Amino acid sequence: MSRKLSRLVLVSNRVPVGETTPGGLAVALKDALSTRQVLWFGWSGGLTDKTGAGLTSIRRGNVEYAVTDLTTDEYEGYYAGYANKALWPSFHYRLDLAEYQPDEFATYMAVNARFARELFERISPSDQIWIHDYHLIPLAAELRKFGVTNPIGFFSHIPFPSPEIFRAIPQHAALASGLMACDLVGFQSDRDRSNFERYAAEQAAMSALPANAPQTGGSRMRAMAFPIGIDAVGFAKEAETSAGCAPAALVGAGKCLILGVDRMDYSKGLVERVTAIETLLDSRPDLCERVSYIQVTPPSRGEVDAYAQLRIELETCIGHVNGRFTTLDWAPVRYLAQGLPRNELAGLYRDAAVGLVTPLRDGMNLVAKEFVAAQDPRNPGVLVLSEFAGVAEQLPEALIINPHDPAQQARAIEHALAMPLPERQERHAAMMDTLNRYDASWWCGAFLQELAVATSRSSAVQAGAAHAHNEPLTAPQIAAGALAVAGCRLSGS
Ligand code: G6P
Repeated sequence: MSRKLSRLVLVSNRVPVGETTPGGLAVALKDALSTRQVLWFGWSGGLTDKTGAGLTSIRRGNVEYAVTDLTTDEYEGYYAGYANKALWPSFHYRLDLAEYQPDEFATYMAVNARFARELFERISPSDQIWIHDYHLIPLAAELRKFGVTNPIGFFSHIPFPSPEIFRAIPQHAALASGLMACDLVGFQSDRDRSNFERYAAEQAAMSALPANAPQTGGSRMRAMAFPIGIDAVGFAKEAETSAGCAPAALVGAGKCLILGVDRMDYSKGLVERVTAIETLLDSRPDLCERVSYIQVTPPSRGEVDAYAQLRIELETCIGHVNGRFTTLDWAPVRYLAQGLPRNELAGLYRDAAVGLVTPLRDGMNLVAKEFVAAQDPRNPGVLVLSEFAGVAEQLPEALIINPHDPAQQARAIEHALAMPLPERQERHAAMMDTLNRYDASWWCGAFLQELAVATSRSSAVQAGAAHAHNEPLTAPQIAAGALAVAGCRLSGS
């Protein structure tokens, strides 16, 4: 007997309304978007002078997009401020770059409260709610304050740091409350999930002390790892159709293309990567004029100082390396400070002999997955992958490196360039197996199924519990919630 699926309410900071090519999240949610009634709520991407500008609603088939502008103050405090100057650097282990401004935190909380109010007016009791990413960590707790008892899931697309780092955020307890108000919290990797569990356990231990132990709210959540996937089959087809994008001079006989594709972000290890290329050319001068490195880097969050600084540092570093090695016919680094259309990127991935995905810290990194999916299985390129990307848990067949060690990265590139065909094929086949098994459909289906299970389990627990959703719980209760979670190991094993 088939059961009618409840409506799915998606909430994310950016909403892909009006986008011609779907981005990573829209691709990953494709199954839900095509089979269910969906309300997708979030920021329009626009700014307004008016407070309380209201929502714009656009319906496309079974999907209703409801978006709201931010005021300039909201944009600066919530998005450019607390989300991207406090949370993003902290969650990526860059406490040196983090700024914790109380007024920005207040605006971050206020925007989450406003989103909760606007959403509350639109949800019905049978909706399943799925919140995405660090901009919206407090949203579930804010919804609970309105008496919302719907199942709420949260997925963290970025790393969850070790408790030593997370606790450095002055507002960590308030953030934990937001997560605890959910039925299910999904992380990209086992490492993130266990970091969160360790934090919860340590909070519990601290609460045994007589001093004022931090308290957070919520009671029913489960935490699990769900590594986000791609449409590996679809991407492989796109790459096959688009092969031959790279200039012939870079991939002709005896030539090899090395490729990096990253948002311009200090978490991506870009300067370290260019330094590794310099180290490689220093140790292997015979590779000059034979290998070319293309770095595609669309600028991002340029209004935040750390990003503006990174751009200067990266461009200085590339200028230095090109100045040292460029000849009249050849330059080692081709740097594009812009994005490329998806099909061109897919073609470039396929043309490349080596893909460099070397972040200093990354939640997952879908470029690594797309690079692998784009390869010609008969003659695949090699992925050089940072051990600090979530995807490294799933793709141990890549050449795994520490991006802080340019000499090791250079040796891995050398190894990749010289790798015999059978070994490349074997590694590629193993990685494709994982990508096909844990693809976008798997991710979306597994999360929503687990949300349904977590919800029914917690309803049973809640029936006998004394706590309403919006009553704060003690640290031991938080820990009990988090540690009741069975870790889900999904890393292709
Ligand atoms: C990361 C985040 C996303 C974000 C994207 C682009 O992937 O996890 O939530 O949308 O970066 O950053 P932006 O600040 O431009 O939205």
